[in-house]
Amino acid sequence: MNIVVLGPGAIGSLWASYLHHAGHSVSLWSRHTESTISIQRDEHAPIQFGNRSKHALEHADLLLVTLKAPQVEDALSELKPLINKDTVVTLMHNGMGTAEVVSELLIDNPLVLATTTHGAYRKSSHHVLHTGLGKTELGGYNSTGKRCEFLAEVFQHALPQVVWNPSILDALWNKLAINCAINPLTAMHRVANGELAQSQYQDTLQSVINEVTLVMQAEGIDTNSEMLSQSVAQVIQATAKNLSSMQQDIVHQRQSEIDFITGYLIEKAQQHKIATPVNRSLYDAIKNIEQGWN
Ligand code: NAP
Ligand code: PAF
Repeated sequence: MNIVVLGPGAIGSLWASYLHHAGHSVSLWSRHTESTISIQRDEHAPIQFGNRSKHALEHADLLLVTLKAPQVEDALSELKPLINKDTVVTLMHNGMGTAEVVSELLIDNPLVLATTTHGAYRKSSHHVLHTGLGKTELGGYNSTGKRCEFLAEVFQHALPQVVWNPSILDALWNKLAINCAINPLTAMHRVANGELAQSQYQDTLQSVINEVTLVMQAEGIDTNSEMLSQSVAQVIQATAKNLSSMQQDIVHQRQSEIDFITGYLIEKAQQHKIATPVNRSLYDAIKNIEQGWN
């Protein structure tokens, strides 16, 4: 396939490298203007990728968007004139809310959503480390996207484990629940994920989960607070030594994904007239930190 990876940061470089090794013709679209970019994954030989090729973008079968959620709308609005209506657009990022915007922006394109638990770390702009094996779920958002099940095989061949999930929104909501619980708290307190197992965080965690459960149920998702508490506890344990993505963003004074995580939850809660005071206070705390940088 002809594939363009838009936003070749940690996760984008990882997929670009694996898709290249699986035999696809992969090109990048980064913010930087050089016409080629060399990327090394772990200890493999560096690969030279074309960058910002209009021809590659216009002829892409797949546009894999690995930008952070707040970057998606602006980047795709700018590139819209170069995106062919047959190109399958796949969004792979934490948080929710971009699909609604992108499906209206690129109205004719098949839209696929993805979530991954692989870990990637960018040692430098030319060197990415695959820091943790994980699982990737893909699923269609619009009617043409729902017919793209073949993509699961393409991704599986490059970097398993990949499944096609016809209920991808459920998977994204379950991931959102985990991110609502772990990300703002670790960012505010500047602690590793595992610290959230300590007793002083349990009341807040439980309140966050209870609020998220009500919103998910109102969205028609079959879940309950025991199930969500268990998933959150499992992720806290499995990623105990990790610093959450939001904590890293806050430490480096980069805009976090709070608007697309807790912000998205609050927006949906308002639509269903559900009170979310604890999530609101975490949202305000992170926004206050970000506004303090100005
Ligand atoms: P990242 O390293 O910051 O990657 C995003 C990339 O997009 C950066 O390289 C950034 O460029 C680039 N970019 C920003 N605006 C752009 C534009 N207009 N045009 C082209 N490129 C642009 O972040 P990441 O860690 O890969 O994460 C991406 C998403 O995946 C996030 O939602 C994250 O939560 C999720 N995720 C990450 C991991 C992981 O292990 N890293 C795992 C699962 C999910 P600059 O480099 O110039 O800033
Ligand atoms: O955003 C993150 O950091 C990750 O999604 C997670 C699962 C919270 C682990 O750190």
